[in-house]
Amino acid sequence: MEKSGKTFVNKVEKILAAAHSMHRDELLFSYKGIFYPTTVCSPEVFQALESFEARSDDVILAGYPKTGTNWLSQILTDLIDISQKKTPGSESGVKAEQVKELPFLEFGDAEKYVRMSKYPSPRFIATHLRPENLPKSVFKNKVKILLLIRNPKDVATSYYHFSNGLASLPSYETWDDFFTDFMTKKTAFGCYFEYLSEWNKYADQENIMTITYEEVKENPALAVKTIAAFLGIPLNEEQLQLVVERCSFQSMKKNSEKTHGKFGNVLFRKGGVSDWKNLFTEDQNEKMDKAFEEHIAGTKLGKKLKYDLYCKA
Ligand code: A3P
Repeated sequence: MEKSGKTFVNKVEKILAAAHSMHRDELLFSYKGIFYPTTVCSPEVFQALESFEARSDDVILAGYPKTGTNWLSQILTDLIDISQKKTPGSESGVKAEQVKELPFLEFGDAEKYVRMSKYPSPRFIATHLRPENLPKSVFKNKVKILLLIRNPKDVATSYYHFSNGLASLPSYETWDDFFTDFMTKKTAFGCYFEYLSEWNKYADQENIMTITYEEVKENPALAVKTIAAFLGIPLNEEQLQLVVERCSFQSMKKNSEKTHGKFGNVLFRKGGVSDWKNLFTEDQNEKMDKAFEEHIAGTKLGKKLKYDLYCKA
């Protein structure tokens, strides 16, 4: 196993071992009205994060859990590697370099941001946070943000399976119980609809590009090209093909033992669109359709999600 992959895998294994000895009720804590996983987040880290200095050449990936953040993280880090004339995914790449940290901005210890201040540019930063909970410097310094969204029914479906597969999140006896919690802000990182409507306030800014899980799935080459253009990274045909090949579900799943250890099996589950049809009841469809209407339909992000195409039976 590569050195960087091993460091990350060891960290994840430690976190999961700690979670095993915790009671279900201890796995989440509430901070400013939103639940977060206790094993990776803490109020101290959130306080320290407020003074984090973002750089104008940082690259941020913002995505609610289960929208495909690990997928897009690889695409972005591969593109950054290419821009630095490094081989994507190699030991000299951006991911290997910054793997000493847990992969999300809000995960880790309060000293993390001091260490991050010493990392060379360009830094890659992923986050599940809503915009109002990101450090002010992110917007002040006009950091480029790729905002990743996914149809809410597949997000809930993926989140349900993830919660039951991962010791650091509360597990559920039934899908119905999970659905109730998901719709009443009781899952980690809060309500997905509120997340969307908060980010929608920023969706017109020129430093923010929104992409959907479904469009990357539909045409990965076009998605990679568009993201590279947004970041100002020139790509030749060979480099494009390499990124596209490396980010296919099959490649990432195959490589996941190396990159994510046992966690890989939970993370790279089905990698498709419309798995919600296997879980949602008619009543749950109605409830989610109504929540979508109330929160986000008609907005820029709401339209981008193509709800009728991906979320109607
Ligand atoms: P499913 O549970 O529907 O399979 P995140 O990384 O934000 O936790 O998101 C995880 C979801 O992204 C999972 O969805 C996972 O299978 C999917 N995913 C991960 N890598 C992918 C890839 N290369 N192509 C398509 N989907 C991928």
